[in-house]
Amino acid sequence: MDVQVTGKALKELACDALVVGAIRSKTEQSTNGVILSQAAKEVDAVLGGLLTGICSGGEFQGSLGEMTTIYTMGKLTAKRVIVVGLGPQDALNAQTLRRASAIATRHLQQTGAHQVVLALFLDGMPVEEELAAQAQVEGALLGTYTFKKYLHSDDNGRGITKIWLVPAKASTTSLEQAMHKGSVLAEATNFARDLVNEPPNVLTPTELANRASAMAEQFGLECEILERTQMQELGMGGLLGVSQGSAEPPKFIILRYQSASKSSDKGMALVGKGITFDTGGISLKPAERMDEMKGDMAGAAAVIGAMQAIASLKPAVNVTALVSTTENMPSGTAYRPGDILRIMNGKTIEIVNTDAEGRLVLADALSYASKEGLSPIIDVATLTGAVVVALGNTSAGLFSNDTKLSDEIIAAGKVTGEKFWPMPMDAEYGEQVKSDIADIKQTGGRAAGSVTAAKILEHFVGDAKWAHLDIAGTSYVDSKKPYQEKGATGMAVRTLAELAMQMEK
Ligand code: BES
Ligand code: MN
Ligand code: ZN
Repeated sequence: MDVQVTGKALKELACDALVVGAIRSKTEQSTNGVILSQAAKEVDAVLGGLLTGICSGGEFQGSLGEMTTIYTMGKLTAKRVIVVGLGPQDALNAQTLRRASAIATRHLQQTGAHQVVLALFLDGMPVEEELAAQAQVEGALLGTYTFKKYLHSDDNGRGITKIWLVPAKASTTSLEQAMHKGSVLAEATNFARDLVNEPPNVLTPTELANRASAMAEQFGLECEILERTQMQELGMGGLLGVSQGSAEPPKFIILRYQSASKSSDKGMALVGKGITFDTGGISLKPAERMDEMKGDMAGAAAVIGAMQAIASLKPAVNVTALVSTTENMPSGTAYRPGDILRIMNGKTIEIVNTDAEGRLVLADALSYASKEGLSPIIDVATLTGAVVVALGNTSAGLFSNDTKLSDEIIAAGKVTGEKFWPMPMDAEYGEQVKSDIADIKQTGGRAAGSVTAAKILEHFVGDAKWAHLDIAGTSYVDSKKPYQEKGATGMAVRTLAELAMQMEK
């Protein structure tokens, strides 16, 4: 999809659809509580007050994602105009623009539009025009994402190919930069979504490593893939233990971004859980919805996607991505409850449930990051069902040993529209994962399951500042939304990239 700022006036832009914004106001009485954007007012004037009429009649109220379509009958060069609601005035932010843009473009794609003009920005919004432009582009690229490569095509050439943005008062150059940032971030997110949506027979650990390596080649990152023998030399007993029941070989993926200006700094680490299919192993999961466990590598996808964005946006900070990837399968060679595994940093873990595999593969990757002296370390994982119980599909769990880092992640998430909720890490929770026969017990029972999982990870980060993002509830939507397809969300890609950009300051 090609995105561009246009110098043309609204009335002269030949396109399939022009999208204008409108907000819901508490005070405005004249148009039944709807405030039209400047672009919407221009359209209204050309169409002799048609829009104001629709609002006054109560047909359109401006709630978030609400749409009304107007056919222009040759009075405008745009074939149709979509008025999209941005919701209540006091709740306006970049995320409402992103959502409204996603909903409108998704609808347009499904109804055959190819060339679309976006003019959702309203003067007086609490969002700078540049960020608004970025959010509209992100919305369009995220909203029109589909995963149909295994479907016999019935799309009849549907697809938006071109997006123009109409400037209000910002310069073309600054808007173009913002739009570029938006498309880089959205494309990286869609790359991560593809990885998660791929079926597990295709996206094996080997294929995940291949795709990471191809991306690294294309975007100029260093890439190293460790094989089983190297894992053995390093003592990665967690990753090796989980993988021993699988016919597919495990991989340890390392991607390095070196900033031109910060050559001496070790920099930060992004660590991802890459279970390409989680059956639960010997502690087998129930059949119902087990297919969704192809998405148990969404943390890996998030960090690989973030690296793609970082490679394009080139922040002045060094970043290393570390991904442990394997299947978790039951078999005659599988690891068992009762086994004791030794992690790369020397600590031992008593296995009680082979379905708690994520913490084991992460423990090795965190040890690796800590041994390399990387800080902060941020890991991303679909780690626990317990975080879904606690926070549902709205917020990811955020666990950290550093309040400042935790605040920075939450702040970056406010920019990207991704929510992270801080969870407690008190020492008392650590009591639940003490073992009589090993340094650590693998699980701490049902109570505070997502917290005790994080307490285990904490054993492997050494002195580094560290945060753990549990995205089990937020990485996947099981039904389609007006703003996105059923399946992978690409959760955390944009926040990790945003965070890297803020770290440079
Ligand atoms: N991959 C799962 C967690 C998960 C659950 C991800 C739902 C996405 C959606 C993880 O490996 C797991 O199975 N965790 C167990 C841990 C338990 C055995 C301590 C869980 O949460 O039930
Ligand atoms: Mn599991
Ligand atoms: Zn898992």
